[in-house]
Amino acid sequence: MKTSPIEIGGSVFVKKNVILAPLAGITDFPFRETARMCGAELTFTEIVSANGLVFGNLKTLFMISRLPEEQPIAVQIFGSQPEIMADAAVVCQEMGATLIDINMGCPEKKVIKTGAGAALMLQPETAEKIVREVASRVCVPVTCKIRLGWSRSDLNAPAFARRMEEAGASMITVHARTRNQMFSGRADWKEISRVKEAVSIPVIANGDVCSAADAKRCLKASKSDGIMVGRGAMGRPWTVGNISASLAGTREIAPHGPAKKLEVILFHLDTIENFYDKQVAVKSARKHLAWYSRGMRNSAAFRDRLFKVGGINELKNLAASLFNATS
Ligand SMILES: Cc1cc2nc3c(=O)[nH]c(=O)nc-3n(C[C@H](O)[C@H](O)[C@H](O)COP(=O)(O)O)c2cc1C
Repeated sequence: MKTSPIEIGGSVFVKKNVILAPLAGITDFPFRETARMCGAELTFTEIVSANGLVFGNLKTLFMISRLPEEQPIAVQIFGSQPEIMADAAVVCQEMGATLIDINMGCPEKKVIKTGAGAALMLQPETAEKIVREVASRVCVPVTCKIRLGWSRSDLNAPAFARRMEEAGASMITVHARTRNQMFSGRADWKEISRVKEAVSIPVIANGDVCSAADAKRCLKASKSDGIMVGRGAMGRPWTVGNISASLAGTREIAPHGPAKKLEVILFHLDTIENFYDKQVAVKSARKHLAWYSRGMRNSAAFRDRLFKVGGINELKNLAASLFNATS
């Protein structure tokens, strides 16, 4: 098993086939920068509202404000109206997106009820229109992130993916669960191989890959061209880089031992501090530090203290005390 490059839409070439997933509230600019520092190549933004982009919502626009520094970067948008999605894609392209990804897998009720996310797998015609419209309006490749289907009795991913390919999609990522599973049960990697057989564009497998061993088993079962890692990167932004390095047979880049981990964490906290205003920065830093501390000795006491500390510098000191104490 080895890492192999992915060609997306004839214009984007990615050397490493292990990708950082879109994770709402997690894969913001500071997290993506940190993952990149640890060897990730292609990263995805969190889900971004097409309406928010088109109607100039400042918070939404802020989410994609640093794209030129992040190449290659996929911006994931959600919505259900082809024209709005295409207008939003144009904004993303102008802001520096390398790829435009359409969310067709979000299972949350508030997204589904607008006809977006995984609801699009029940409305292949609308999904097709969205991909066609978006692909006709931007020069960068358009990709889709889907699930196996709505439910176990409706595993339509292969035919659906084929239809998206015909509409102009250049890569499909498959989260190997159904919408009704949400995030429960095991990801069914074998089902992804049916999607791979149905299309000729790259297929990326997603779900339950947290280590190089998982990645190898997943690539074998799914026959996919690459892997996307989500929850395995929470509190471990080095996971994507490490899996890539392991597949390539090179040394892992990051970071063995508490001292090295602390370096990564401090980089992450610095980036958070520089990116957000004070209040948001502290909230975000606390959230990530809680994940970083998982599984460590004294982590429960550490998490208690996290919420008693008010500023970024104090949070940095607190992190240093936890990781130095265990080094
Ligand atoms: C907290 C959280 C936020 C997520 N946000 C998004 C998102 O914004 N867009 C998306 O397509 N998927 C999102 N997902 C799904 C993941 O990208 C991924 O498909 C799923 O977690 C399975 O992969 P994993 O087992 O590697 O985490 C999210 C998942 C979690 C747990």
